[in-house]
Amino acid sequence: MSETKRVLLIVSGGIAAYKSLELVRGLRKQGTGVRAILTNAGAQFVTPMSLASLSGDTVYDDLFSLTEESGMGHIQLSRDADLLVVAPASADIMAKMAHGLANDLATTALLATDKPILIAPAMNVRMWEHPATQANLGVLTSRGVLAVGPEEGDLACGEFGMGRMAEPETIVAAINGFFLNGERLNGRHALVTSGPTHEAIDPVRYIANRSSGKQGHAIATALAALGARTTLVSGPTSLPDPPGVSVVRVQSARDMLDACEAALPADIAVCAAAVADWRSAGEAPEKMKKTAGEALAPLALEENPDILRTLGAAGNRRPGLLIGFAAETENVIENATKKRISKGCDWILANDVSQATGTFGGDENTIHLVDQAGVENWPRLSKSAVADRLADRIADTLEATA
Ligand code: PMT
Repeated sequence: MSETKRVLLIVSGGIAAYKSLELVRGLRKQGTGVRAILTNAGAQFVTPMSLASLSGDTVYDDLFSLTEESGMGHIQLSRDADLLVVAPASADIMAKMAHGLANDLATTALLATDKPILIAPAMNVRMWEHPATQANLGVLTSRGVLAVGPEEGDLACGEFGMGRMAEPETIVAAINGFFLNGERLNGRHALVTSGPTHEAIDPVRYIANRSSGKQGHAIATALAALGARTTLVSGPTSLPDPPGVSVVRVQSARDMLDACEAALPADIAVCAAAVADWRSAGEAPEKMKKTAGEALAPLALEENPDILRTLGAAGNRRPGLLIGFAAETENVIENATKKRISKGCDWILANDVSQATGTFGGDENTIHLVDQAGVENWPRLSKSAVADRLADRIADTLEATA
């Protein structure tokens, strides 16, 4: 690792908090800087004094936040860190993170940060398996939060099962893996498009499609996690901005093209947006009126610019590695292969978007990566796992050609 990395460790309530002392020791031993926030519940299990003496730094708690916010506020605490680690992460703090609650120093720092977050969940097996906790975990991982553990074993409550916090050395290894990975795309600029576009018909109506942006946003998150400076050009979605990513929000295909061209040059471009192929041939200045009993005259459509094709033909401004998607409902590989060539991209990720697959708007995807060499079939994966696999493959490819 190139420079001293700094972790902001949040110790929440739970018997596993005693292991966080060992975690601090392990991190410090290898030269990683640690600063800690101790929640009120965490302070029932470990003392600020023991955390302070192991971390060699002040321990921040709610008493501190009330008196010292002007000196070292929650924003500054996370700004100083490369990674926020919540260990142990109780069911309670996971729920607060998933729902954006900020009622103490720890949750305020977590809500205000744009840094990556790693959690080490620890709780009773039934709390872990409860659908609410699993749903909260799903929300957090879909936002790019990394999770290590829990593990199966004897629990402090006397039960056996999943819920024991990962061992400190496992968490240290996960943190190191994160920092090493976080340098693979250092110095690279990645451009990602995501979501649908909205093509206005009149001031209240538009042409759109079913894209949620989940796949494109996950790709931007994964590329940023590998250290790429990432620009995400997103059509209208209800998703939050991924942490550490520069987001440009647009409405129409023409806006999206302008934003992509403005973001060049790029070493990597991934076009995951479902761009509307057509727009209304003339946006009505006022809301179009309905006349009872009369059919609407057919809407005249004109073709939108093709962003992927434009990037593929951008000469010396063409992104170094240009990746498109192909959304198909039939002859998936055949059509994708044709699109890769006609749009001038290096790889195309074909996905079947027939309604039965639930790809549009859903949480999973099945990818067939088509490149010059042939087709690579990936298993069905969560969209964030697709994004991680793609980001790793991009990093492998750029490292091999560097
Ligand atoms: O957003 P989600 O709900 O998570 O769903 C993900 C997804 C299904 C939208 C995504 O996985 C996907 O397939 N994205 C591409 C959708 C699409 O428009 O595919 P296409 O086959 O029509 O277009 C081929 C490629 O050209 C795509 O990279 C597309 O971004 C690009 N394109 C298309 C038209 C256009 N005018 N400009 C473009 O750049």
